[in-house]
Amino acid sequence: MAEHRVAVVGAGGFGGALCARIVHRHPSLELTALTARSDAGKRHDEVYRRYRVPVTMEQFDPGAVADRADAALVAYPHKAAAPAVKALRDLGLKVVDLSADFRLDQARYEHWYQPHEAPELLDEAVYGLPEVHREEIEEADLVAAPGCNSTAALLALLPLAGRIDEAAVDIKAGVSGAGREASDETHYVSAVDNVNAYKVEGHRHTAELEQELPGVHFSLVAHLLPIDQGILASCYARPTEPLTAGEAQELFREAYRGEPFVDVVTDPPRTRDVRDTNRATVQVTVVNERVLAFCAIDNLWKGAAGQAVQDLNLMLGLPETEGLR
Ligand SMILES: NC(=O)c1ccc[n+]([C@@H]2O[C@H](COP(=O)([O-])OP(=O)(O)OC[C@H]3O[C@@H](n4cnc5c(N)ncnc54)[C@H](OP(=O)(O)O)[C@@H]3O)[C@@H](O)[C@H]2O)c1
Repeated sequence: MAEHRVAVVGAGGFGGALCARIVHRHPSLELTALTARSDAGKRHDEVYRRYRVPVTMEQFDPGAVADRADAALVAYPHKAAAPAVKALRDLGLKVVDLSADFRLDQARYEHWYQPHEAPELLDEAVYGLPEVHREEIEEADLVAAPGCNSTAALLALLPLAGRIDEAAVDIKAGVSGAGREASDETHYVSAVDNVNAYKVEGHRHTAELEQELPGVHFSLVAHLLPIDQGILASCYARPTEPLTAGEAQELFREAYRGEPFVDVVTDPPRTRDVRDTNRATVQVTVVNERVLAFCAIDNLWKGAAGQAVQDLNLMLGLPETEGLR
């Protein structure tokens, strides 16, 4: 008998669809409601056959969701997410939001995005990177799952906190990171056999890096790769004091000792090795006085839905890895 009733709001999108798949198979969670907009009325497994979730999606009605669920995963685009999260929080549900709406303080959010739709909730929101904020997540009723690129870059750089003052972050990201609707840039014929940088003048995920690693000056450039799922963050950081490769590697081993989803490896991480898993592989070395740190994740898993369920496990007092191995 599952212990906790969970709804997924926005289950027609890539992130929400995988949330539905993970919750449906989770031994301690019961998937009690799925909502969608254009796919409302369809069964989830008609739209996402490989996830095999035989549940009909319905239009979002916060009261109807609250009647059947104690917690919700919200997978809307930013701006649309905040009012939905507020409605669910007002009805007493614990919420993990996959969007950017609750990741940043208000000033940072409004600088990078737009006026906030529910600023009164920002004080209770916790940034959902368990490797840093585990204890706060355990106590939280609202958790903001970090961005996919930010997750990869932060896992590559966090063990260096306080030891670097500058980092160039090179992100290579699969097309599913852009969501289900194809654009001119993400259309198959644009993305296949091609690599290009995008949002060069300022990628919004920079804001999360600046917030979580204060004192570091970042430049972040993302590249779209012709793969479906996967992110590789390659980070080139300047140490404030000389650091050897051995010392850097020891910092990483120490930082991630006991972490259930982070593997410190000695060869360059590859997206293929973490595909369809909640794992992150990180590697660090030092060359010509620069720290080179790499992290590979699956953007839909550790970068979105997997991490959101990891957060929910912590919020509900369940084993952190349950449903995610
Ligand atoms: N994809 C990733 O790798 C990834 C990683 C980390 C975080 N995220 C975040 O997770 C959230 C969902 O991303 P996604 O990739 O799953 O996006 P997506 O595939 O575009 O799905 C978004 C879903 O939200 C619905 N939606 C769109 N606009 C809406 C509105 N104004 N009001 C209500 N519903 C609306 C869409 O419904 P219709 O289909 O009916 O329009 C769709 O089902 C975003 O905030 C994204 O930034 C995504």
